[in-house]
Amino acid sequence: MRTAVLGVSGSVAAYRACDLARSLMREEFVVRVCLTDGAQKFVSVALFEALTGQPCLQDTFEEPERGRMAHIDWARSASVLVIAPATANVINKIANGYADDMLTTLALAYTGPMVVAPAMNPSMFAHEATRASLETLRARAAVIVEPDEGEVACGEQGQGKLASVEQIVNAVTSVANVAQLLKGKTVLVTSGPTEEQLDDVRVLTNRSSGKMGAAVARAALLMGAEVTVVAGPQRAPLPLQSQNISVRTAQQMLDAAKPFAKTADLIVGVAAVADYRPADKVEGKIRSGEMGEVKLVPNPDVLAELSKLTKGRSIAFAAEPDGGIEKAREKIEKKGVYAVAVNDIGRSDIAFDSEYNDLTLLFADGREASSGRMSKLKCALWLLTQVCEERA
Ligand SMILES: Cc1cc2nc3c(=O)[nH]c(=O)nc-3n(C[C@H](O)[C@H](O)[C@H](O)COP(=O)(O)O)c2cc1C
Repeated sequence: MRTAVLGVSGSVAAYRACDLARSLMREEFVVRVCLTDGAQKFVSVALFEALTGQPCLQDTFEEPERGRMAHIDWARSASVLVIAPATANVINKIANGYADDMLTTLALAYTGPMVVAPAMNPSMFAHEATRASLETLRARAAVIVEPDEGEVACGEQGQGKLASVEQIVNAVTSVANVAQLLKGKTVLVTSGPTEEQLDDVRVLTNRSSGKMGAAVARAALLMGAEVTVVAGPQRAPLPLQSQNISVRTAQQMLDAAKPFAKTADLIVGVAAVADYRPADKVEGKIRSGEMGEVKLVPNPDVLAELSKLTKGRSIAFAAEPDGGIEKAREKIEKKGVYAVAVNDIGRSDIAFDSEYNDLTLLFADGREASSGRMSKLKCALWLLTQVCEERA
């Protein structure tokens, strides 16, 4: 059976970790709980030991088996580390590599998938320190289960309520024991928007946040691949375990990606590459009233060029209003890809800048598959699994 180590920290929401522990057990996890001192002000070791049938950890120097370092043993045994509720304190500590109690020491010794579910007062959640730490953890491929909006225990309104047990369990099951279907494979991902310079100040760009590209990179890493990401100026942080190359323009993206395309087993073109760029870049700044007409010329088709180079396979992403299945299907031939993943950008509950997506995957042989609406990481895992299973 898989083991989930559940870290519980000192939030009012600690009581909800009881339900979470039981729900994880229903998903066939052995649940081992590590409580901070803060957590024990709200819930007890005895409660979790009774609920899980497993001994809990609380003190750094505790050694349930003499001569065996528990923080290393627990870190090695875990298929997933879930910190829920995660206090601002624990989040800021693990992001910065502190190891001053059992939970943070265990987290530092742990190398597998991690799920963090913050719960705190909205001002603590909005604080720059907390935001920065969460971004750091995301960049290390942790899955952050965003807290809900509403009234928190202190009476304030805002974002900070622990997400539902169902959401946390979903995140855990999506990352724990992901089959290593891409072990030994190299995956090249293009991600984010591109920027085409109009003058020294202005650029032509688009609304891509880079979240889907980052999710594909993270999913490929979780599935065991060696990953290179060539990314435009995107807002979403990329995993630290991938090789990340930053570019601005479509031409730069193509130039940077080419050497990797030749050896990649799989190319996933998630980037929203500008189809056109200004014919001439103006030196300095075009003054107001002097803009006139801007002549545009076509950019290279980055994915079509990369697909020609690869011995493996490539997948395109298509952002289409209202599903746009037929238009997307045309891309299969145009770009020489084996499948196209279609985002419906007409929907406000998915795609641009959202944490969620709902992909329709069109294969060159005419088959279609749908992911359903789920987190971008889950969508990415679904997409890569479809490709690997088809290949097998
Ligand atoms: C009644 C009470 C409720 C608290 N709730 C939270 C909370 O929901 N989230 C949070 O980040 N901190 C909360 N705190 C503050 C933490 O308990 C405090 O920062 C503590 O040092 C956290 O320790 P730990 O992160 O090691 O568990 C609360 C404190 C008190 C007294």
